Amino acid sequence: MIQVSAPGKLMLFGEHAVVHGKPCIVTSVDQRIEVKANFNGANELVVNAPQLGIKDYKQTVMQLCRQEMPKQMCFIEATVKRFYQKYGLKKGLNITTHSQFSHTFGFGSSSAITIATVKALSLLYQIKMSNKEIFDLGYQAVLDIQGVGSGFDLAAALWGGTLFYRKAASVVEQLKIKSLPLIVCYSGVKADTPTLVRQVAELKRKQPKKVIRIFNQIEEITFKAKKLLEQKKWRELGGLMNQNQKLLEKLEVSTMLLEKLIKAALNAGALGAKLSGAGGGDNIIALYPTNKRKKIGQALRKAGGQIMKVKLNSKGVIFSIS
Ligand code: PMV
Repeated sequence: MIQVSAPGKLMLFGEHAVVHGKPCIVTSVDQRIEVKANFNGANELVVNAPQLGIKDYKQTVMQLCRQEMPKQMCFIEATVKRFYQKYGLKKGLNITTHSQFSHTFGFGSSSAITIATVKALSLLYQIKMSNKEIFDLGYQAVLDIQGVGSGFDLAAALWGGTLFYRKAASVVEQLKIKSLPLIVCYSGVKADTPTLVRQVAELKRKQPKKVIRIFNQIEEITFKAKKLLEQKKWRELGGLMNQNQKLLEKLEVSTMLLEKLIKAALNAGALGAKLSGAGGGDNIIALYPTNKRKKIGQALRKAGGQIMKVKLNSKGVIFSIS
């Protein structure tokens, strides 16, 4: 039996611009997804994913991704299909997943499942794969399903820690960070990332000059943030978060609810705050001076947010074999 676990992620800087070739900074969260895999002696893929409401889902190996399937199954099935095609395999498998977090929170459950599945399959078949090969296969599977995305979430699930990242893992740089004094607050609204990514692409098509200028400004912020994070210059870093948020507002992905939460955090003493991820909902992050942490948390709750108890800068994919 192979057991693999991969972490979720949280975007810190550079969302949307990263889809268009700019860098971003992403950190891994300690909420993880576990994938167990073993051969079942049949010619079927059998999946159990209790947190996703999937019980004994069965599909013959030859039919993977050919039929209608429950949405949550797509990532597992597309990943197995890509892996089996690449290596010419056909043995039946049992896959069981266990998630420490709900897929509604925007922590990247699908990317964590994808990476954990590729890793589990490589261990099960004893196929040596470099991290870049694992990434590439996972990225293909995600693009099969979503059609869009930079792959930053897959990189966080695989390498872990806090990464300076460029699309398709053309740059993956681990930042030397010990602490990240951030409060993560869920807005209560689930965001649909592919829709927002397409919306920004459409804005870029209509107003290329404006949007490219915004992407360039976000890039500059991301480069500065990389340095400041490593130097623990929190006050300046907070300023950059606020600037990044303003640019996301110009990209029209922020919402009144997210801005209400951001304002509440800033009024309570946060050094900076911004939405994290595609926008439209999901989470905001607020940088706190140690003495204001409690107050900011209270203010966010009062404004209707849900404080997420997550540790950041967590380990990437890990496994055990029994
Ligand atoms: O919504 P999230 O947390 O998955 O973040 C999306 C970040 C984008 O840059 C908008 C998309 C991407 O794939 O990089």
